[in-house]
Amino acid sequence: KSVTDIRFVCRGTFVHSTAEEALQILEDALLGVDSKGKIAFIGEGTDLQRLSESFGFSSSAVTQLGQHEFFMPGMIDTHIHAPQYSYTGTALDMPLLQWLNTYTFPVESRFQDLEFAKKVYTQVVKRTLRNGTTTACYFATIHTDASLLLGQIANDFGQRALVGKVCMDRNDSVKHYKESSEESQEETYRFIKELLNKKYPLVKPVVTPRFAPSCTEALLAKLGEMAKNNKLHIQSHISENLEEVEWVKELFPNSESYTDIYHKCNLLTDKTIMAHGCHLSDEELVLFRKTGAALSHCPNSNISLCSGVLNVRNVLNHKVKLGLGTDVAGGYSPSILDAVRRALDSSKVLTIQDPEHKTLSFEEVFRLATLGGSQALSLDERTGNFQVGKDFDALRVNVAAPGGPIDLIQNEKPQILLEKFLNLGDDRNIVEVFVAGKKVVPFSEP
Ligand code: GUN
Ligand code: ZN
Repeated sequence: KSVTDIRFVCRGTFVHSTAEEALQILEDALLGVDSKGKIAFIGEGTDLQRLSESFGFSSSAVTQLGQHEFFMPGMIDTHIHAPQYSYTGTALDMPLLQWLNTYTFPVESRFQDLEFAKKVYTQVVKRTLRNGTTTACYFATIHTDASLLLGQIANDFGQRALVGKVCMDRNDSVKHYKESSEESQEETYRFIKELLNKKYPLVKPVVTPRFAPSCTEALLAKLGEMAKNNKLHIQSHISENLEEVEWVKELFPNSESYTDIYHKCNLLTDKTIMAHGCHLSDEELVLFRKTGAALSHCPNSNISLCSGVLNVRNVLNHKVKLGLGTDVAGGYSPSILDAVRRALDSSKVLTIQDPEHKTLSFEEVFRLATLGGSQALSLDERTGNFQVGKDFDALRVNVAAPGGPIDLIQNEKPQILLEKFLNLGDDRNIVEVFVAGKKVVPFSEP
């Protein structure tokens, strides 16, 4: 193998998921990152001599991880509302439709103010990065310029992101927090064109009809066409709450199901991610599988808004792509570690209700937080695990970080260290965050 331009090399424990194994543990491994931020090689520590010769790095340039440390892939938040970060941790006392009208739409309508948007968007990007979210799939608001600003801020801080300008042309409860159908299409087109023109390496636009009740069928069809012609990502919400599902039946009397509405409008593709899906039928899951569309499981939100409990086991059995989402601020925590815990708890609730239900293991949920999320966002050629050729999106975790939330009384095996981190850890344990080979946490102040 020819000599590559190696930027840095790390030696220690690496944990990640593969197609075959929910948890693969590589002890005393050696991983090299090239000048483009891609994983150049991953081998055994004992092979240092040979690897340093064939890849042309000096063995003194190797960073050695500590006893209680490991690298894991960066976590992926497949569904988060950036503007809603401004009221996260509050306003969780009503069901979805009332919650949207009472809290969400009034707050989102403030984002035509770019100063306010800049403040909130900077906070949410920094907070999620610190929490180990290397990739986030964002809803912004209907405001094109503020949505472009979110893309710029994610790029400036080095977070990988999909960013969507929200589309809604009906059922406004808040005056002026709605567009005409033409405006929604034109502004979506402008948003996509301008975001692509910026040539941010890690930020992509995503076509974002808020959900069927906020959009006329004409708008949904136009957005589907735009996504198809430009091979774009698509995101929306589906089947989150039963009252919503009933309302959708009234609004779209000629459709067979909620899923069918999106499908007829070309909005179910292998680059589509739909949040929630708590109340989908098996037939609808089959349609997800056939089209390659993915679901985002947001358990904190589902519990906080009393929306429902997604049966993840059933989704996995249907081979539908699935990732985890925080759904800030329906979900109040901006951390995928919280989503991991809520997903495990939700699965246990299903087992309490039905002992035949096969509870999710922490290894399976770890996969959803990393590789599963990358597959759900169709970004798995670039990120999700430590496969050679992918970008190095990674967290350096110190389970025994001084001042952190975890006490160890002895040396533990990597599997135990990971389990403790997933159940007990927080940002104090995440000592470094890398996206595409660049250290983005701790922040480098400009
Ligand atoms: N459905 C439509 N809009 C929203 C939103 O902002 N949050 C949640 N949780 N569900 C929605
Ligand atoms: Zn949402």
